[in-house]
Amino acid sequence: MRKIVETLVGELTRLKAAGVKTVAVSDDAMASLRRVVAARVRAQGGGTVRVAAPTSTVAVPAAPSPIQAGRSVEEPPLVLPEPSAKPRAAKAEPEAAPLRLPPPPEVRLPEGDKAARWAWLNDVVLHDRVCLENVRPGKKVVLGVGSLEAAIFFVGEAPGAEEELRGEPFVGPAGQLLTRMIGAMGLSRETVYIGNIMNWRPPLPTAPGAEQRGNREPTEEEMAYCLPYLRAQLAIVQPRIVVALGATATRGLLGKAAFKTLGEVRGRWHDLQGIPLMVSYHPSYLLRKEAESKLSERKAKRAAWEDLLKVMERAGMPISDKQRAYFL
Ligand code: URA
Repeated sequence: MRKIVETLVGELTRLKAAGVKTVAVSDDAMASLRRVVAARVRAQGGGTVRVAAPTSTVAVPAAPSPIQAGRSVEEPPLVLPEPSAKPRAAKAEPEAAPLRLPPPPEVRLPEGDKAARWAWLNDVVLHDRVCLENVRPGKKVVLGVGSLEAAIFFVGEAPGAEEELRGEPFVGPAGQLLTRMIGAMGLSRETVYIGNIMNWRPPLPTAPGAEQRGNREPTEEEMAYCLPYLRAQLAIVQPRIVVALGATATRGLLGKAAFKTLGEVRGRWHDLQGIPLMVSYHPSYLLRKEAESKLSERKAKRAAWEDLLKVMERAGMPISDKQRAYFL
């Protein structure tokens, strides 16, 4: 049994290094894990070990990076035991090591108006070999959408299932919430610009022919590869304000040293090479709060809305009393 557990911990450690945040675990496996962990804790004289997910997913222990720390504020971690000895899973690593990416592309936008430059960039990104190698057959590389004259530019994390299918950012459940929030500001998807740090859905190990279940956070390397494409979109649109949605987008834009927890930077103005940057919650976080309780939903949505009120004020937009009172 010990060998099995060590192998399992080794595999989880490997997945964590590859940026995987959740893995599917059957109920039976979960029950076995609980028994093994409880026995180990008893043998070590007690302590706090939580392996109590009632669902079939297990959070891979977070890597000690600022962004992980930021997300941990939002997402209760499920703690697996530390292996007592270094697992002997090293042999399995070469075949499962995270995909190495080439250096990030150098983007030199051509002369021309915004539409011509965007069309050029769109063509480059949609034909980028690395992007194409990372999307599954039948799925799409995703560039930003919206108005090239937008004053406000929203930046999210990475495409999910719906987005990679349609080739458009924020069209799944989180995207529908973001669209409603943009509507509540008196704007529309067509009058703002919406992009992502990543141009492809970060892949997870999936059985041949099966659809990917769940999403994972992009790795540093993946974000670094795609960042020039986001910067190019910013250079084309030249927005007055950028809104970073969630810790990953914020880390991609401000750098990993900028903060430890999202709470340190959320709801505040930052400088993105001369552009005012507001950090807010990711709509997926708000959806998770919806699922938690009415109270946490209202609290989180009000906080996110206050961030957007600051954006509206800074953009010189009119704000009605009704808008000021949302979620109160
Ligand atoms: N979440 C994101 O961050 N981006 C999307 O496009 C969809 C969901």
